[in-house]
Amino acid sequence: SNQPLIAPSILSADFARLADEMAAVDGEPGRGADWLHVDVMDAHFVPNLTLGLPVVTSILAVTEIPVDCHLMIEKPDHWAIGYAEAGSHNVTVHVEAADDPVMLAKNLRSAGAKAGLAIKPGTPLEPYVDVLKHYDTLLVMSVEPGFGGQSFIADVLGKVRTARRLVDTGHLNLMVEIDGGINAETIEQAAEAGVDCFVAGSAVYSAADPAQAVEDLRRRAAA
Ligand code: DX5
Ligand code: ZN
Repeated sequence: SNQPLIAPSILSADFARLADEMAAVDGEPGRGADWLHVDVMDAHFVPNLTLGLPVVTSILAVTEIPVDCHLMIEKPDHWAIGYAEAGSHNVTVHVEAADDPVMLAKNLRSAGAKAGLAIKPGTPLEPYVDVLKHYDTLLVMSVEPGFGGQSFIADVLGKVRTARRLVDTGHLNLMVEIDGGINAETIEQAAEAGVDCFVAGSAVYSAADPAQAVEDLRRRAAA
């Protein structure tokens, strides 16, 4: 794969200081966060509640970093389009929650966003290969969605390898993103399996220097 992308997750940031926390991972081109990962949770699809469209709209107004919205919500067919229309770079919905993921991808793209499809650790990849032809990213969850700071589930790397092979053989045209438990210890095995874009929450925001943590992750992913 090409140059790895690093997407800090603001789930582990201080929500009272969001603008400062976003600036802490911004950098000159080629440095700092490639995408800003924003975890939207509705307390129904996952047992946690975070933020919604008003906060995402405010985030979009104050950052130049492309925003990667990860919607861990029910009824994404209804809600996701708003995040695309607001100006998100990428809007990712969960296949377990979507009623018509092909139509959803078309609607997201029409609204000017990249379309992402997420799969939970226990969700197989094979049934969705045809659906994924309509998507720009596949988000492989490497923890159960809902909380930051959990341990990496290495079993999901089989799905990453399958997706990588489908892309490299021309059957799919998408980026492979991984989310959950990515840190300096786990990122190399994810990179080896073929991940293009790495989400990291606690590994970035628990560091004394978040921008340096992003660069450390990028260097390890490229090794
Ligand atoms: C979990 C979220 C992740 C979370 C990752 O449901 O989707 O994006 O922020 O946090 P870490 O990197 O700490 O596992
Ligand atoms: Zn996420």
